[in-house]
Amino acid sequence: MCGIVGYVGHQSAGPILLEGLHRLEYRGYDSSGIAVLDRDGAIAVLKRQGKLRDLEAAIDVMPAGGAGIGHTRWATHGVPSDRNAHPHASSSGDVVVVQNGIVENYRSLKVELESSLLDRGQGWLSETDTEVIPELIARELDRGCSFVEALRAALGRLQGANAVAAFHRADPSRIYAARKGSAGGIVIGYGDGEMFIASDLPALLPHTTAVYHLEDGEIATIDAEGAVVDRANQPPLRPQPQRVELDPVAIARGPYRHFMLKEMYEQPRALSDTIRGRARLDPPSALADEFNLTDNQLRSVERVLVIGMGTSLHAAMIGRWWLERIAGIPADFDNASEFRFRAPVIGSSTLVVSVTQSGETIDTLGAMDQVRERWGAPQVVITNVDGSEATRKADASILLRCGPEVGVASTKTFVGSLAALYLLACRIGRARGALDETELTESLEHLLTVPSLVERGLQLSEQCSEIAKSYTSAANFLVLGRGIEHPIAMEAALKCKEISYVHAEGYAAGEMKHGPIALLDQKFPVIALATRGPLFDKMMSAIQQVSARQAPVIAIGDEGDTELAELADHYLGVPHATDLLTPFALTPVVQLLAYHIALARGLDIDQPRNLAKTVTVE
Ligand code: AGP
Repeated sequence: MCGIVGYVGHQSAGPILLEGLHRLEYRGYDSSGIAVLDRDGAIAVLKRQGKLRDLEAAIDVMPAGGAGIGHTRWATHGVPSDRNAHPHASSSGDVVVVQNGIVENYRSLKVELESSLLDRGQGWLSETDTEVIPELIARELDRGCSFVEALRAALGRLQGANAVAAFHRADPSRIYAARKGSAGGIVIGYGDGEMFIASDLPALLPHTTAVYHLEDGEIATIDAEGAVVDRANQPPLRPQPQRVELDPVAIARGPYRHFMLKEMYEQPRALSDTIRGRARLDPPSALADEFNLTDNQLRSVERVLVIGMGTSLHAAMIGRWWLERIAGIPADFDNASEFRFRAPVIGSSTLVVSVTQSGETIDTLGAMDQVRERWGAPQVVITNVDGSEATRKADASILLRCGPEVGVASTKTFVGSLAALYLLACRIGRARGALDETELTESLEHLLTVPSLVERGLQLSEQCSEIAKSYTSAANFLVLGRGIEHPIAMEAALKCKEISYVHAEGYAAGEMKHGPIALLDQKFPVIALATRGPLFDKMMSAIQQVSARQAPVIAIGDEGDTELAELADHYLGVPHATDLLTPFALTPVVQLLAYHIALARGLDIDQPRNLAKTVTVE
């Protein structure tokens, strides 16, 4: 999703802005731009559709100036184009803005502002919602407001969640940043005689680890020496920056061809970090520390609802299994964007668990708001980003500790979320008396084996690559699984869609004969997840039905399963896992298959078209 950067200080702003934008590329974008302001008030705005390399190629001479803002745009209102790219200036040319989010009432604001534009003999220069923001600010400045007052008044007119950065020609020593609602974060970075802003930490870390996260409703005035933060009806404050511990090396790609590949191989380590100290055996305890809900509170929970989007929703689906089986509690999952607009029946004894690696997905945040406002139900968030908006909304957080995930396709945060959900199920199960000490010990012992399960699955990369080459031109895949493996089938299909651009459907195998089987022929490969669990025989029947339609079968099952291997055209053997933990054995293999299909097709794996790492618009 869109990315914002900003700089003010003793260096030339342009190269720093471009470098910062490169570090935000993983968020997904389709155009980019920078605006640089020099000491004399000269403004240079440079923007281009396409990748940052297109913008850089269009810059003959880097504009001089020690202040500036930059943006990567993920199109919502108006096609990706040079003119719709940010930054956008007011019709006077004096106020320049970049924005994340959506101005939901931009149509009426455009009508309202149009007459003053026409008076100047001008019209709107883009199809974006953004353009109203500099115009609103400029109008307030004309009325004699300070820039902060003008920005606050402009934000007050906007409906929807927005984060903006701006500057004003009249004051080349300052840039401004503001947040209204949950449109992704803005982090202010403190340097030595220079200051930075960015949507995400990776853009700041080469320069500083001293940061301040701008809160909802705050406006920051930033000069080379620091920042002053204004909040409505409160005195301005100079925030104390906090030190972040993110390791810049952890966000570098290292020897790997893609971040996605690197992050897949980090999964065993990431899982160990998620589990570390939270699965104790002697005496057994799950999530004993760093978790704000007490056993008493957990005992009063009568039902658990797990929500999320995309890959996080697939984790939620598996979470339901564990909550029912391990904790013996009624549980369900829901798509956060749908949940918000139904009339769900939940009460204050329902525990709502949100899964969101970024902690900033607007659909999930919206659902969390609704849960708080309508039912006041207790909320837990499972997220990889400490300090993210979701952590502020929840009563308790389980941090994944997976390290930064740069690839748009979630990989290590998926398995991390699974581990966190499993731990939560153990904790609730123990608090409710569904697990005795021995059962808890056994459940936790099983969990402690999952880093090695994943590690061994990753050793199948070569085999996955060979199989992928046979299906480079396949237009469709059906992915089948049953029971706890059904969500993995859905996750496999999502991975195929998002990085390989191949149409894939994840289905509960029992459902296949109720419709999808009509699609099958020799050109329609089927990936079948069939470990030796309680539903193995039923999966074998489904595979027989697929083979009878001559559709090629890629079977993934237990190591050494000759019966399965004989039935399939291709077979991948994963290490044996207990039937509740097969998702960990299967996940690396389906990720590798999708990765190698995308690789064989020569696609942009880390920045797939149209996708954003963090989805901050509805
Ligand atoms: C995963 O590969 C996708 N990029 C996407 O489905 C993602 O899981 C979804 O947007 C939810 O993101 P979140 O976990 O940050 O809330």
